[in-house]
Amino acid sequence: MSSGSFPTLSASLLVYVKLMKAVDEFMDSDTARKHASVYAGLEACKKKLEKYYDKSTSESEYYYAAAVLDPRIKHNLFDANPDFFTMMWRQHMDNNFKVRLEQYTTSLPSASSTSPTPSHSTSTSLNDLYNDFSLLGHPPSTYDAVESVSEEYARYLSFRPQLGEDSLTFHRKNCTSFPRIAAYARDILAIPGMYQP
Ligand SMILES: *[C@@H]1O[C@H](CO)[C@@H](O)[C@H](O)[C@H]1NC(C)=O
Repeated sequence: MSSGSFPTLSASLLVYVKLMKAVDEFMDSDTARKHASVYAGLEACKKKLEKYYDKSTSESEYYYAAAVLDPRIKHNLFDANPDFFTMMWRQHMDNNFKVRLEQYTTSLPSASSTSPTPSHSTSTSLNDLYNDFSLLGHPPSTYDAVESVSEEYARYLSFRPQLGEDSLTFHRKNCTSFPRIAAYARDILAIPGMYQP
C-alpha cells in the first residue's frame, strides 16, 4: 500500500474506507449474522477503525486536506462514500481548508514584494509603462495576484488529472499555476501516513 514511494495521509484515508467497506460487507453476510461472536468481533473491529480515524479531532483536518490536495482524489472519495463522511463534517473541513489557503496568500511572490525596488531608476519607470492601462488597455498579466482563493480552488477542482500522476509530482510541476494549493500541499504531503508505534 504505497502511493509513490511512501504512504501518504491521502493513501491511508483510501485504505480506511476500503477496510470499513469490507467490515460492513462482512457484517452483512450470513456467516456474521448467524454467529454472534463473529458479529461482535466485527463490531469491535469497526469501532477500532473509527477510533483510529476519529473525524472529530483536529487531525482529521489533515486527512481531509491530504485527500483534496491529491489530484487523483480531490472530493471524489467523499462524494462516493456519503455513509462514511457526513455533509456537516465535509462542510466544516472545507471551510477550514479555504481558511488555510487564504493564509498562504500572504506568501505569494506578488502579494508581498520581497524584491527590493530601486528607488529611482530607469528600469522602474520602464516597468511602470508595462503596467500602464492607458497604453496597453488591460491589467498587468500577474493573474495569480488577482485570483481569489475560491477561483484558484475551483480551477484546481475542475481540471482532469493525468492518469497515474501522484500528488507530489503534480504539485511540483504545477506550483506556479496553483500557488496557494501547492504551498499547502508542500506542508501537508510531507506528513507520513502511518505512525510508527
Ligand atoms: C500542470 O503542469 C503541466 C506541465 O507544465 C501542464 O502540462 C499541465 O497542463 C498542468 N496542469 C494543470 C491542471 O494546470
